[in-house]
Amino acid sequence: MLSNYFLIFIVSAVLNFRKVSSYDSFQVQHQWQFINFTWPSQAEYQVAYYTRKYVPENVVMAGIKIFEGNIYFAIPRIRQGVPVTLGFMAETSPRTNPLINPFPSWDMNYQDHCGTLQSVQSMEIDKNGIMWVLDGFRINDNSMGCPPKIILINVRNSETVQEYTLPEEISLSRGGFLNDIVVDDTNGGFAYITDNSPIDPGLIIYSRSQNRAWKVRDASMFAELDAANFAVDGLNFTNLSPIDGIALSPPNQNGIRSVFYCSLTGVHVYSIRTEILKNEQLCRTERWRWGVTYFGTKSAPSDGLIIDNQGDLYYGLLPLYAVGKWNVRKRSSSEEIVGQDRSTMIWNDSFGFDNQGYLYLLANNIHKFFNTNFVFPDPAAIKFRILKLYTGTASYLYY
Ligand SMILES: *[C@@H]1O[C@H](CO)[C@@H](O)[C@H](O)[C@H]1NC(C)=O
Ligand SMILES: *[C@@H]1O[C@H](CO)[C@@H](O)[C@H](O)[C@H]1NC(C)=O
Ligand SMILES: *[C@@H]1O[C@H](CO)[C@@H](O)[C@H](O)[C@H]1NC(C)=O
Repeated sequence: MLSNYFLIFIVSAVLNFRKVSSYDSFQVQHQWQFINFTWPSQAEYQVAYYTRKYVPENVVMAGIKIFEGNIYFAIPRIRQGVPVTLGFMAETSPRTNPLINPFPSWDMNYQDHCGTLQSVQSMEIDKNGIMWVLDGFRINDNSMGCPPKIILINVRNSETVQEYTLPEEISLSRGGFLNDIVVDDTNGGFAYITDNSPIDPGLIIYSRSQNRAWKVRDASMFAELDAANFAVDGLNFTNLSPIDGIALSPPNQNGIRSVFYCSLTGVHVYSIRTEILKNEQLCRTERWRWGVTYFGTKSAPSDGLIIDNQGDLYYGLLPLYAVGKWNVRKRSSSEEIVGQDRSTMIWNDSFGFDNQGYLYLLANNIHKFFNTNFVFPDPAAIKFRILKLYTGTASYLYY
């Protein structure tokens, strides 16, 4: 008996030790060679496959968010043959090549109809389980020139609760690119959205209670020429890509919240206070621009950003295969590298938090998909990975 208990003690001590030691590094949770879906029937799968409505090697996930045991995915139609643009799976899904379910339904993912989801790049899920979906990837011909839109869906019952179509003067139906979003629960709910459009880049402010949007444009949102042409996994990223990553800070000791943003081709991070952005009249004058504040310089360009409820800003450092961290509340804080892995962290794109203290990271090779001539030398290679890091904190939404 005693020896049995002793053995159990040893085994649990070893398991606990492994658990603790894994807390300080990113661990791969899920990985894919290609993305496949839970088809309604084998016949529908066959038809989609043979008519090239589904081309497995063309599907790339771009955004992830975690809510109540599910991981949600934005799957922009960058190439042809992407049958689903918004999907989900349970966190408990298999590690390798788990199937993705369409969200909220197959019907809502129907392509070639401006009333359904056309090409989703990103989303946020607020504390009440409302997903704010950005259907605004409009820089190719896979979305029929449909105007970009913001759709609010209740994830608990899959019902659409609100919808807003962006007018051309805010985001272009041919050339707009709603890239990333943060949600602010004050004053009836606001979203701050980056428009990575190569034609009209800027920061869009959407008021849920007014169901209205406005846009600010500034040189701090343009690509930085000095930062152009960086190499990631053997492929140079030569685009001059403007404002892309966005993060919202929790309130500071004076109750002030700020939006942080950076250009994809760029290393400078800027911020603006939310009171300025929420004031539409001020945004229509030139005076709002006095609020643009230089925050700091990162060691490399990034795609997605996220801030937790302690004010730590996390971001991918694309050409370094790393993740950086910077506290936005502490004046003296500076950049720290919290993870680096040349083999798994290829294009650290999107971040999300669960409610168990974990930061999720999607590394997706997306720069290769944007290059239309690029073919993966090894089709069986792992192209997408979800990694998890214990931070003990939660998203900025839970301040
Ligand atoms: C995709 O998933 C379906 C089941 O939903 C399966 O029948 C099919 O073989 C899968 N295709 C590939 C290429 O793995
Ligand atoms: C690719 O990027 C690397 C690193 O920035 C640079 O040294 C190299 O000159 C680039 N190659 C080309 C062909 O531009
Ligand atoms: C992504 O971030 C992880 C964790 O910091 C790092 O190990 C990996 O190298 C990064 N990959 C890229 C391409 O930046």
